[in-house]
Amino acid sequence: MAFIAECIDRFRLDNEDLDYRQFIVAVDGGEIAGFGRTRPHKEVYELGCVGVIESRRNQGLGKMIVEDLINAFLSGNVYITTDLIGYFERLGFREIKNGPEDLVEKIKRVCISKCRAGAVVMVYRKEKPMHIDTKCIHAGGCPDTHTGGINTPIFTSSAYGYLDTDVRLYQRYFNTPNQEAVAKKLCELEGAEDGVIFSSGMAAISTVLLTLLNSGYHAVVQDEIYGGSHAFVEDHFSRLGISLTLTGKEAQVIEDAIKPNTRIIYIESPTNPLLNVVDLRAVAEIGRRRGILTIIDNTFATPVNQNPFKLGIDVVLHSGTKYLGGHSDLYCGVALANKDIASRIRKTAANLGGSLNALSCYLLERSLKTLAIRVERQTQNAFEISKFLENHAKVAGVNYPGLASHPGHAIARNQMSGYGAMLSFELKDMPALAFMKQLKLIKAALSLGGVETTICDPATTSHQKVSEEVRKRLGISGNLLRLSVGIENLDDLIEDIQQALEYK
Ligand SMILES: Cc1ncc(COP(=O)(O)O)c(C=O)c1O
Repeated sequence: MAFIAECIDRFRLDNEDLDYRQFIVAVDGGEIAGFGRTRPHKEVYELGCVGVIESRRNQGLGKMIVEDLINAFLSGNVYITTDLIGYFERLGFREIKNGPEDLVEKIKRVCISKCRAGAVVMVYRKEKPMHIDTKCIHAGGCPDTHTGGINTPIFTSSAYGYLDTDVRLYQRYFNTPNQEAVAKKLCELEGAEDGVIFSSGMAAISTVLLTLLNSGYHAVVQDEIYGGSHAFVEDHFSRLGISLTLTGKEAQVIEDAIKPNTRIIYIESPTNPLLNVVDLRAVAEIGRRRGILTIIDNTFATPVNQNPFKLGIDVVLHSGTKYLGGHSDLYCGVALANKDIASRIRKTAANLGGSLNALSCYLLERSLKTLAIRVERQTQNAFEISKFLENHAKVAGVNYPGLASHPGHAIARNQMSGYGAMLSFELKDMPALAFMKQLKLIKAALSLGGVETTICDPATTSHQKVSEEVRKRLGISGNLLRLSVGIENLDDLIEDIQQALEYK
């Protein structure tokens, strides 16, 4: 104990670049001086160390930690101070480098004399978190070890060998190389422990709900969600014995809907199509206090503008068909959560079968490289267009959380880093269809989130399946238009909107 504490102290004191929480003590075939053989792990972990390894690889804990260590090693942030190089060579690694000599010497001086022969000490370089635009490019992926190519190869096999490995690779098990490569990138972008990539947003949403809800459970679901999600809970829950309360967006209203058998709270923010904002911190706090899982569809915000895990939400969903894909040429969905929930989701998913093929996984991975740069530009354009529309005589109202006049503006400012690229507006005297027909550049199209600006009237598209009565209650009128702003030049977009508004 004293040994570890001393090491940690030393490093904290004299090495700004080291993060003591990421300090690893690896013991190759021996014990750390001062520890009994049976108990060191717990105490080492309590001190904030990442792991202890033993060379007997098949001991449960030892084996797990070897895997951690290999991952750490692959991240390139590990200094190896002694003969662990041989150890990794035996595991099949090449090109293993020592850390800088002065650091190695320092670590040896402090630690090595206190360990039994064969002990090895490793220290991580302090990791400065990457910015999201850098993560978009460099996080996740699967290195091309065969040729050294810098992109993830597309692994086309639907059949993988199984004799020399205990992992059974199969697309419907959600564990093939392209699936994992892109899942890792998305986990990094949202700050998730684990993630599952699906063949559509609805595959992700339905699989998650069917995983977390059983007959006899109750779900609190915000009423202003994507029309397809709304239809799913209304069409299937009662048949499955799951009771449902549809609620408004205010945290108190959500809490009031909770019953003793409530297991999930399902929300969207900003909402589709009215761009209302839910207070995510408040909802997460309710979930934690009442022991209920909180789930958000984060499609509209994207990981660039909103990170629900940081606000305490448990499960994050995306229709990757939208911004993550970003080019209107790909369907996919994403579910992100902690390891335990994700493994439950993966198990149901393997039964239901909504997995994504290798080519689409690769396309998604490629698209994600430009996610931040696309969404930043889209968000800037949307902000300017919302101001233009707000000041136009023919526009009755604009819904965009970035406008100070928006009722959710203060909450959005508090929980989003940008206000997103979706907005909706209502025309004073012009029917939605007539306006859309006058547009020359902006296309009337289903879906959203692409690099091109698109427009639709939610009453006959995304919310067509929602009853007229509910649409009326929510405020989705026949004059409402939803704009998904792209990356075109702002002046061209405004010009197009202006000429359509002024058409006589
Ligand atoms: C907010 C939101 N969530 C989920 C979905 C469903 O996604 P998909 O069409 O990929 O199944 C959509 C689709 O429009 C959506 O807008």
